[in-house]
Amino acid sequence: MSESRALCRVEDIPDNGAIAVRVDSSTGGFDIILMRQGEAVFGYHNECPHQGRQLDYVPGKFLVKEGCIMCAAHGALFKVHSGERVAGPCSTGLVRVPVRIEGAEVFSA
Ligand code: FES
Repeated sequence: MSESRALCRVEDIPDNGAIAVRVDSSTGGFDIILMRQGEAVFGYHNECPHQGRQLDYVPGKFLVKEGCIMCAAHGALFKVHSGERVAGPCSTGLVRVPVRIEGAEVFSA
């Protein structure tokens, strides 16, 4: 993403939860995960490093618990605040999408 764009409102993301957002691009767009912990929001590509599947168990619904998000396909666990792999069949973490909060909105950075 080269230009900053509004992704959603902070309140659209449940505290200690996650939502999916589609980002348009010149190559057809891609899906990102936005996760929130209090006033902090974290963005990642919605693509598991294990087999490249999306992490949602149904579109836009994620398993987030105790500071980690779980890939619905085979159970890989990643830290919400860093994307670091905690457990599971892959060896790397999620790919971060830089975001920033301005007022009540979340923007791509
Ligand atoms: S695709 Fe995510 S754990 Fe296998």
